[in-house]
Amino acid sequence: MAMGDSSRSFELLDKISEQAPKDNPRLLNYVAALRTSLQSEQKDREESDKLLAEYEEAYNKLTSPANRIGVFIGWLQEDPLPVSAEEAPADEDALPEEGTLADLVGGAAKPNLALIAVGEQEFVAQVDPKVDRLFLVAGSRVKVNDAYAVVGFLPPSRNGSMIKVSDVLADGRLRVGSDTPGADGGRIVMRGELLKEALIKAGDEVRLDPSGRIALEHYEKQESRDYFLENVPVIPWDKVGGQKEAIGLIRETIEQPLLHPEIFARFEQKPIKGILLYGPPGCGKTLIGKATAYNLTQEYSKQTGKEVKEYFMAISGPKILNMWLGETERMVREIFRTAREKAKEGRLVFIFMDEAESVLRTRSSGRYLNISNTVVPQFCAELDGLQSLENVVLMLTSNRPDYIDPAVLRPERIDRKVKVGRPDRDSALQILGIYLHDRIPLDPDLLRKWGGEVDCARKELIEGVVDQLWRKNRETEFLKVFLRNGSSDTLYFKDLISGALLKSIVDRAKNYAIRRAIADPNHISGVSLEDLTRAANEEYKENEIFPRGDTQEDWLQLLDYAPENVASVKPIGAHRGEELSRKAIV
Ligand SMILES: Nc1ncnc2c1ncn2[C@@H]1O[C@H](COP(=O)(O)OP(=O)(O)OP(=O)(O)O)[C@@H](O)[C@H]1O
Ligand SMILES: [Mg+2]
Repeated sequence: MAMGDSSRSFELLDKISEQAPKDNPRLLNYVAALRTSLQSEQKDREESDKLLAEYEEAYNKLTSPANRIGVFIGWLQEDPLPVSAEEAPADEDALPEEGTLADLVGGAAKPNLALIAVGEQEFVAQVDPKVDRLFLVAGSRVKVNDAYAVVGFLPPSRNGSMIKVSDVLADGRLRVGSDTPGADGGRIVMRGELLKEALIKAGDEVRLDPSGRIALEHYEKQESRDYFLENVPVIPWDKVGGQKEAIGLIRETIEQPLLHPEIFARFEQKPIKGILLYGPPGCGKTLIGKATAYNLTQEYSKQTGKEVKEYFMAISGPKILNMWLGETERMVREIFRTAREKAKEGRLVFIFMDEAESVLRTRSSGRYLNISNTVVPQFCAELDGLQSLENVVLMLTSNRPDYIDPAVLRPERIDRKVKVGRPDRDSALQILGIYLHDRIPLDPDLLRKWGGEVDCARKELIEGVVDQLWRKNRETEFLKVFLRNGSSDTLYFKDLISGALLKSIVDRAKNYAIRRAIADPNHISGVSLEDLTRAANEEYKENEIFPRGDTQEDWLQLLDYAPENVASVKPIGAHRGEELSRKAIV
């Protein structure tokens, strides 16, 4: 309008200039001034028009209705109802752009109908073609107008509820929110675009979109990182002293089937899946478990010609014992699931369950009343399910195998039991040799005596301390065991020896030598027989594996007697004073 008016004014002005007498310069000047003034006014008007348009736009935006926020679930592959050109106009409001109708009808290649959720409800919605489709992926937040058409998108929300994944379905969908196996409840959610490829495991947590249908973010379970993966230290078999029989049996029952599966298959011999190591504390069960993992991996890598990594799952029985109903079962399931996953990745998997009797107790035994008795059957079922997997080995350890439910130990489950017993004299020599190795500084006088021959000096020391430990006299008397048949046994130091104790003796003796070296730096100091003897005596007095009192249950775990044969146990030696007063009672 402004343009039309001003051009008319200029036209009139042109006419006036034409007809004005040329000999009247004053008049001509006025006309020229009028033209300039008109021009500047026109410019002002144009500017204010522009401003007005901007204000108008802002006003429209502010007064237009708010958009709802929904969640994009997916494109509809096939239109549920074929939409004809005649029917479509009802939706015209939602589709302000021309040409969308054609898209709609021929929309097979580029679907325009989306499945969205707004609050509790789901909608099949039209999508404004101006909205960039790249941003419309499962889980995106979308703006939805009055007609429930998608007219825009928003950046992803950063909050929402967390929920635990209880199962991952074969097609990738997640079952969430039901923790207890066998219990009802829970629901299935989809994965958002970002989680399409994520490795989600049961027990992990996911953040859901506000509608609760789509998992948007994944949080790995802390616990599984805590105790599932443990790097096995380098423990070749020669780092384990003695235990020839146990090591031999392990190599025969675990290593051979793994290394020569074809031979075992030919003889239709099923490889051993599980093995139980039992025996008194500190004699190397855990050590042998780790050594098995390490050595087997070495052998397997050599055999297959490729680097195979082991996956050592160190599981402590008491740790997974949980008073919450179903929680222990959930952890057992998770352990086996992780094992299967890792085995499929091509790793050698070791499930190493320490103190297994705590979780796998005989169902009727009363000590842990609070554990539900479904753990054992579930464990057995999981174990049976492992049969088809070649590279999984299960090892249990226990000080009290008599407490483990017989169902676990029956053939085809854990059918090999290996005793990891106390070291005999020869084994003790070997174990001491491992810890008092040839780089440890020895007593200079002793070395001089052997003309600097370290190995001879070591031999004298080691044999010396073993002689001391194996003596049977008043000094090495340690425990009296009264048997049910009326007889009694006196146990000496050697009867309670263990690898851990021998290692401790060496460590203690080294500390004595270290103290001397610090006190007198000019004097060359090294481990002597005196250090070792003193260390041995101190160990038996102070070692914390020996129970402080005479609680029978605690002592029985340490002894090699069948518990049912033992009537009572009395410590002597360190407790000699008390023993005298108690004698009267026995
Ligand atoms: N046969 C052995 N050779 C070398 N070292 C040993 C031997 N037995 C035990 N040790 C030493 O003692 C430590 C403790 O042994 P380990 O943890 O294997 O005992 P365990 O039988 O598992 O006992 P627990 O029943 O208390 O779990 C080992 O780390 C190792 O240093
Ligand atoms: Mg152990």
